[in-house]
Amino acid sequence: MNLPSNVYQARVKAGTLKQDDAQQKIVLLFDQLCKSLATYQPAVHSVESGLLGSLKSLWHKPQQPPKGIYLVGSVGRGKSMLMDLFFEQVPVQHKIRTHFHIFMQETYKRFHILKQQSGKGGDPIPDLAKELAQKAWLLCFDEFQVNDIADAVLLGRLFEQLFALGVVVVATSNVKISALFQNRPGADAFKPFIKILSQQMIEIELNAAQDYRLGRPEDEKRWLVPCTAENKERLDHIFLSESHGRPVKEEILTVMGRAFHVPCASGIVARFLFRDLCDVNLGVGDYLALAQRFKVIILDEIPRFNPDNMNVIERFTMLIDVLYEQNVKLYVSAEAEFEEIYRKEDRRAFFERTISRLNEMQGQNWGSAARAS
Ligand SMILES: Nc1ncnc2c1ncn2[C@@H]1O[C@H](COP(=O)(O)OP(=O)(O)O)[C@@H](O)[C@H]1O
Ligand SMILES: [Mg+2]
Repeated sequence: MNLPSNVYQARVKAGTLKQDDAQQKIVLLFDQLCKSLATYQPAVHSVESGLLGSLKSLWHKPQQPPKGIYLVGSVGRGKSMLMDLFFEQVPVQHKIRTHFHIFMQETYKRFHILKQQSGKGGDPIPDLAKELAQKAWLLCFDEFQVNDIADAVLLGRLFEQLFALGVVVVATSNVKISALFQNRPGADAFKPFIKILSQQMIEIELNAAQDYRLGRPEDEKRWLVPCTAENKERLDHIFLSESHGRPVKEEILTVMGRAFHVPCASGIVARFLFRDLCDVNLGVGDYLALAQRFKVIILDEIPRFNPDNMNVIERFTMLIDVLYEQNVKLYVSAEAEFEEIYRKEDRRAFFERTISRLNEMQGQNWGSAARAS
């Protein structure tokens, strides 16, 4: 087995990583866990079916699982990088590494399917846990978090069962275990879960000297150019992150007695193709309803503006005015930067205001007031 520390050192030597003492300490902890997991067999996977299986289970006592690792610290310190390093090396076949939002999205989906199958009054959690544990008994979560009471209730019960089945959990997070879902209504009911997590995982803080992400503004850009598959994927990730992985559904807003379809909505986020929002017969009332309902709008594929199609340009201007007034966060993919999307030579005077507003909306604090509400 190639231990994480060997790989870390090799990368330092190769110059792809800088030596960092705080990271080094964590890597050694991951080494330990690799070694423990190499000989660990969880209850859920140790028993085979059939006669031989039941015979084996007679002498095969389930082992005590090793504690997982909960890696906490501020952004850009290398938490995800270290967990990925561990994940690549750990000699476990049944392992999953996922972003926590994606996990939640899939879990809710499965939860509802199992609930329907189990009928009224049935509890799908035990089956859900078993299903998951059979798929993988080493679960690695990037950006572990608990966002609302629904997540808190689901996670508390699910993880209790997962741990009982011998599943080992590794996670990165910006929040200490003791601070998960605290100072909120329902927080007390969550306390037992915090206790379980603390028992099953070693919490360790990564105090790396440096924010390795600084100086890389592309991580925070909101106006992405051009409309490539890579930028679409970046918007997918933003969608998941801003919606906290909630299920995606169609929503219908009522605007002056009319139905306004929002095809892709989730939590506080709505996503549209530019042409479905600005090249159709919608007006300020629709945009206002949108801005009042959603805190984050994602707009895919803004083309360069054609001066012959003033309707589209005017609608876009109207949309920006409304989103600006309502402090909505806007993420887009576009064929050009917003200063160039409508050529200066063709541009009508009113668009200068749009540019100035868009400029302001790129600020990192834009929309944070909305987020808090
Ligand atoms: N020791 C290091 N030397 C060079 N780059 C690093 C180092 N540690 C982390 N990075 C890079 O810095 C960026 C941020 O690291 P990441 O693991 O995403 O941080 P976090 O998950 O703590 O926010 C990543 O691109 C990562 O590869
Ligand atoms: Mg990370």
